[in-house]
Amino acid sequence: MKNKILTFLKNFESQYISGEEICKSLGVSRTAVWKHIQSLKEEGYIIESQPRKGYCLMETPDRLYPEEVKRGLLTDTIGRDIRYFERVDSTNNIAKDLARQGAAEGTVVVAEEQLGGRGRLGRSWCSPYGKGVWMSVVLRPVVRPEVASQITILTAVAVARAVRSVCSIVPGIKWPNDLYMAGKKLCGILTEMSAEPDRVNYVVVGIGINTSSLGDSAPPEIRNKVTSLADGTGKGVSRIILMQEILRELEICYQSWQVKGFQHILVEWKELCQSLHRSVTVVTLNGTFSGWAEDIDDSGALLLRLSDGRIKKFISGDVCN
Ligand code: BTN
Repeated sequence: MKNKILTFLKNFESQYISGEEICKSLGVSRTAVWKHIQSLKEEGYIIESQPRKGYCLMETPDRLYPEEVKRGLLTDTIGRDIRYFERVDSTNNIAKDLARQGAAEGTVVVAEEQLGGRGRLGRSWCSPYGKGVWMSVVLRPVVRPEVASQITILTAVAVARAVRSVCSIVPGIKWPNDLYMAGKKLCGILTEMSAEPDRVNYVVVGIGINTSSLGDSAPPEIRNKVTSLADGTGKGVSRIILMQEILRELEICYQSWQVKGFQHILVEWKELCQSLHRSVTVVTLNGTFSGWAEDIDDSGALLLRLSDGRIKKFISGDVCN
């Protein structure tokens, strides 16, 4: 009912609508309307009430509430079930718990802030309140485990497409799946999987994209290495629209990967990739290697030509140009 009242107010945005009309149209008592309005106000909606005129929605809060994200979400599966939290340790941890308990494919966990946000290679991920979209998606692809790594690549393509359509800028991809803008990191993707030898139980894809400047919230050592959509475009971006668009593009890429295979995604990924066909240094947990970034193979692994001509394959690491 609360959501119905909200939709009603939204349809009349900036206009007053009488309590009586809401009661009649939705078949609910005056007291119930009043209670739901109080609860919406507590959630941050600015609703003015005036005797004889009724209620008027003045402002929607900048929060990633499921009702807001789902309103106008153009997907069939991804984001149909959204679990919202103000603060969590890590949305990936929650999504993995939900996946273990049988959560459906496409379930999304989103938080305003992560207190223990995790990045690749055991690093932490700075996720201050309301300054980005920090979310994780549960997927259940019917594929062999070795193929599931391709999901990370297709997610990078999906996020790049979403940023292009919402902000009219095209971020570059740095192998394996970081999105960069003007030489600084904008978005990271952390994919975690549970699998048997021959099948995947679930994949959790965690996406962290900075929408507003992280400022002092970012630890000093990363402050001049990270950027945000606001930094890059000079204007604010609606996190709701961005999240909707990421979920939409993710569903499109995921479905076409299942139907048409990986090649066309890989072609698009290579077009966006800034780490190929140049001299690079790859930093891994097992050492640092320099060479020529020759290609990406079908699993998304980086093929590096070393100075002695040998090709070395990397499935994880960081590329420094
Ligand atoms: C990277 O190291 O580049 C990957 C960063 C991934 C961050 C996202 S934010 C949402 C999800 N929850 C996490 O704890 N991590 C991922």
